Amino acid sequence: MAGQVSQEIAAPLSEADIRSGIITRRIGLVIHLFQAVDSTNDEAKALAVRGALEGTVVIADAQERGRGRMGRSWTSPPGVGVYFSVILRPAIQPHAAPALSLLGAAAVAEAIEAVAGLAAGVKWPNDLIVRGRKVGGILGEVAAETSHLDYVVLGIGINVNQTEASFEGELRHTATSLRIEAGRLVDRTAMIRSLCESLDRWYNCFLSEGLAPIIERLRQSCLTLGQRVVARSGDQQLCGLAVDLDHAGALLIRDADQRLHRLIAGDVTLTG
Ligand code: BTN
Repeated sequence: MAGQVSQEIAAPLSEADIRSGIITRRIGLVIHLFQAVDSTNDEAKALAVRGALEGTVVIADAQERGRGRMGRSWTSPPGVGVYFSVILRPAIQPHAAPALSLLGAAAVAEAIEAVAGLAAGVKWPNDLIVRGRKVGGILGEVAAETSHLDYVVLGIGINVNQTEASFEGELRHTATSLRIEAGRLVDRTAMIRSLCESLDRWYNCFLSEGLAPIIERLRQSCLTLGQRVVARSGDQQLCGLAVDLDHAGALLIRDADQRLHRLIAGDVTLTG
């Protein structure tokens, strides 16, 4: 039995399987699938520099140097996770680009619900949380000149079929996988297809209607709202109550003196 399970987990991703049945306008029309790379974000950025089409997706079965936010690493063992990057080229000002990570978070939450049947919350700006533990994250990277956005790479990591034993150190208390929470193996190919489709829906919606529908969707699943938080951005630290998201996706935090602060990017710890 154990042998069967590990074979099932280790089954490599196939480009033909991923493609079959995906109906999208932009996302995943071109897919580059690798057995192992340093980081799918680095591959996607190299493709973007060479002029790759918007919506081009890079997927790997494993990453040797997966990167997380704030200079952290993203553990990316073979055969169990989704390591996915997509190139976007919206005609927006560079300062508006961080909002695209929120779009990514909304899409990942939807894909998790559709494929694993689990309710996924978003810890602002882009941690995906199931039953209080982190199941996925998004690393958005932007290439821009002063007022021109060249491209954004949204890198998405989802813990799909890891077991408890896969998580070491601090992660044992903070991380989880779809398999652990759903109590069954979850099909990575189905996750990737669903992710392409929900990214495509939200991105098309963003291009035609702007950010408002995404903010509305996130208000429903944002676990940060209504919580006391400690927010860190650069060397600044702020404590207060997270009260809302504004029209641009910034987190609004009210401090002890009732002053409202607007956090565009940063790291947020929930303190209750
Ligand atoms: C975070 O929560 O800190 C963000 C994690 C992002 C991980 C993904 S995996 C695919 C892509 N390639 C990377 O090197 N990182 C992102």
